[in-house]
Amino acid sequence: MAELIAKLKNGAAQEWVNERIGSLTYVIDYASKKTVPVHRQSVWYYFGGLTLFFFVIQIITGLLLLLYYKPTEAEAFESFVFIQKEVPFGWLMRQVHSWSANLMVLMMFIHMFSAYFMKAYRKPRELMWLTGFVLCLLTLGLSFTGYLLPWNTLAYFAVKIGIGTLDYAPGGAFIAKIAQGGDEVTGETLTRMFGLHVVLLPGLTLLVLSAHLILMQTLGTSVPIGYKEKGLVKGEEPFFPNFLMKDFIGWMIGFALLIFLCVVFPWEIGTQADPLQPAPEGIKPEWYFWAQFQYLKQVPGPIAIATMTIAMLAWAAVPFLDKKANNEERDVKFTIFGVLTLGFFLVECFIVYYEYYILHPVAH
Ligand code: HEM
Repeated sequence: MAELIAKLKNGAAQEWVNERIGSLTYVIDYASKKTVPVHRQSVWYYFGGLTLFFFVIQIITGLLLLLYYKPTEAEAFESFVFIQKEVPFGWLMRQVHSWSANLMVLMMFIHMFSAYFMKAYRKPRELMWLTGFVLCLLTLGLSFTGYLLPWNTLAYFAVKIGIGTLDYAPGGAFIAKIAQGGDEVTGETLTRMFGLHVVLLPGLTLLVLSAHLILMQTLGTSVPIGYKEKGLVKGEEPFFPNFLMKDFIGWMIGFALLIFLCVVFPWEIGTQADPLQPAPEGIKPEWYFWAQFQYLKQVPGPIAIATMTIAMLAWAAVPFLDKKANNEERDVKFTIFGVLTLGFFLVECFIVYYEYYILHPVAH
């Protein structure tokens, strides 16, 4: 035993792996040479890592929930109640899965807007932005498809309203039919959402995420425009161990917040969905769809869908539209576009919050 410990201390394990996959030294070498710029906006660099942290939690808790969850109309709600009430720590896994999904979306939005305002999308990081944009769609897709799985009244009608908005889009009725597996939200929809939620969307997310992170490693971290020239960059710190250790502290704070939310504000079980009953009052989607939901109430459907689609395409194409940023110059038009987009989300969300929680709180 003592001999084995001595061997391990002399780097025998590293040598063993090296002889078989060859590149371990290269990876360690690379990681120890990678650096992260230090300046007054550096705090925003932690939000990509936090999004990743909550995504890992989603995978682990999702796999555990899968041990007991049954994706059929007859059994879904029952198995969901069984997990919450009978399975040891099942309640905790379910609460963590629901809260971590919300925190992942929140961290991703902060990460996306901070990357936007720091113009981290500029040359040569256009593909980082594009892969990020696809990750945003996939993350929202994961949240939407997961929402129906408990098969409770709230989930049923919220998903029904969500899929209903497709009617305004050209070809939307056809997509809705495929997503629902018919003309209505039924047990067939549940099975389809389950397949998307546990196989297709996580698989695609892992693939695109790998590309996002490999690009990050190859291109390194960007610095906001003009910071180098104005001497605002205080220096560089090693990624390993310095930055990673700080990342780790961020994850621990995120984890503490997660457990606090699970214990103090647990998600309700609700009642089993009954498609024959009328929709209860006050049904609304999850907060990250509030802005679109409210906009659809204010503007005629086809116009709302058309303007949102154009704005989304412009958002995805920003690295190619903002030519000045590629020459290290700030273009105020793009800052205004970012402020308007963020403002739109915040104002619409506030209106929904005010209407559903302050004006008509009875529904909750
Ligand atoms: C599942 C969602 C996502 C994960 C897990 C993720 C993860 C990460 C990580 C770990 C980094 C490096 C650290 C950092 O700068 O924060 C990063 C960088 C970056 N991400 Fe994401 N990201 C996601 C979504 C997005 C989205 C939605 C966008 C924008 C549309 C985006 C755009 C970028 C850009 C431009 C960088 C480079 C930042 C720089 O060099 O300063 N990411 N991402």
